Amino acid sequence: MEILSYLIYLTASILFIFGIKKLASPKTARQGNFLSSLGMFLAIVITLFDKHVLTYEYIIIGIIAGAAIGSLMALKVPMTGMPQMVGLLNGFGGGASALVAMSEYYKELGTPLLTENLSVIIAICLSLIIGGITFTGSLIAFGKLQEIVTGKVVKYPLQNPINILLFVVAVAASVYLVLDPSLTNVMIGILVISLILGVLLVLPIGGADMPVAISLLNSYSGIAASMTGFVLSNNMLIIAGALVGASGIILTIIMCKGMNRSLMNVVLGGWESAGSTGPAAGSQEAKPVKSIDSEEAAMMFDSAQSVVIVPGYGMAVAQAQHAVRDLANALEKKGIKVRFAIHPVAGRMPGHMNVLLAEAQVSYDKLYALEDINDDFPNVDIAFIVGANDVVNPAARNNPQSPIYGMPILNVDYAKTVIVNKRSLNVGYAGIDNELFYGDNTLMYFGDAKDAINKLSNELKAL
Ligand code: TAP
Repeated sequence: MEILSYLIYLTASILFIFGIKKLASPKTARQGNFLSSLGMFLAIVITLFDKHVLTYEYIIIGIIAGAAIGSLMALKVPMTGMPQMVGLLNGFGGGASALVAMSEYYKELGTPLLTENLSVIIAICLSLIIGGITFTGSLIAFGKLQEIVTGKVVKYPLQNPINILLFVVAVAASVYLVLDPSLTNVMIGILVISLILGVLLVLPIGGADMPVAISLLNSYSGIAASMTGFVLSNNMLIIAGALVGASGIILTIIMCKGMNRSLMNVVLGGWESAGSTGPAAGSQEAKPVKSIDSEEAAMMFDSAQSVVIVPGYGMAVAQAQHAVRDLANALEKKGIKVRFAIHPVAGRMPGHMNVLLAEAQVSYDKLYALEDINDDFPNVDIAFIVGANDVVNPAARNNPQSPIYGMPILNVDYAKTVIVNKRSLNVGYAGIDNELFYGDNTLMYFGDAKDAINKLSNELKAL
């Protein structure tokens, strides 16, 4: 049985590795998801047959309750609510790791495993600290995105010294517990400090920066799970946790690079303009913009040969992906070449636009990453911007004073004509004005993305 469970854990770990590799491309992502789920299924089944499992009743109740809550959440959550759902699930992962470490501590209390095997008690301390921080930090992140907790950057006196002090106390208490594992109160103290630290670390971060914080917490939840793997001497958990920890860190770095910001800048609340709804200070709203209606827009599209559609956060908010797909189909029927340009941080979570367009059955080969399409914009007749703002703001290239200066953008302003669909001249995530809207070759097509694009498609089909 032991050999069999090792072999199955090994198979599950290999499936995780291949699964995560396949998640790197939208073409193979579904397959990757399937392989990873299969790995997890195998791992759960073999764990249940393991000799340590004494009662199946609680496990079955847990599986039924968890599956019911999980399915309900997955079915009910709108696409725009996905970041907070991921945040909440990370928190549960961290909380579970801390609880497993705690129960293992009580189970082994007084046995030589805790006193003689240093690695176990050290792993328990790390699971408690990282799992505790991840649990409450993720709950605050969820609360901020769900607007239960203020989305503002929260600053208070001695913020950083207090956090550093708490962290030092948690580490010192851990050393104490390693030296004398019988000190139950110290173990509880480590957990309580970590729970407080999670709240204090995430509270200062602005709501709009939460996706990056969530990605970082995702990585923490993996590291906590890996530590719990050491506590339980379970290689599969160590590998799965390490994969989540490493991929979470890589994702965080990619997001920070896509926004040209350091992780420190995000964690310390760099852009405070989260959730701005009006034009930026010193707004250029007084400047003239050229706006067109659906009929004029349809005529322009009708005479184009090459169109690049640039989706952004507004497409997600409006749930306009199906309308966009219909427009693309209508254009292609007229022999017009249609491509989609995807910025790495368009929307509010990694791969946000890819997921939405895949849901609307837009074929992957029409999606182009920034580096694959940027040089071709001068040959494009119409760059059609659907609810994107910061990711096409030329200030990132031209204005060293701009907070987004240096962020890679899609060079849509080099296209022959730019048509921008959004509801107003309001700012996007970074809270700054966009000179693109006032460009000589730019036409604003105002309106909610779904309605406006449906109208445009109807006009186009009637031509
Ligand atoms: P944003 O710059 O946030 O702009 C979105 C625009 O959508 C807004 O200006 C808004 O203008 C428009 N909009 C909202 N609702 C709409 C609707 N119903 N119909 C049409 N338009 C609508 O979006 P982006 O260009 O996708 O850039 C993403 C930003 O998020 C970047 O700054 C990025 O750094 C940041 N960010 C991204 C991520 C990831 S991983 N994707 C994570 C964290 C932060 P109106 O109000 O005028 O309509």
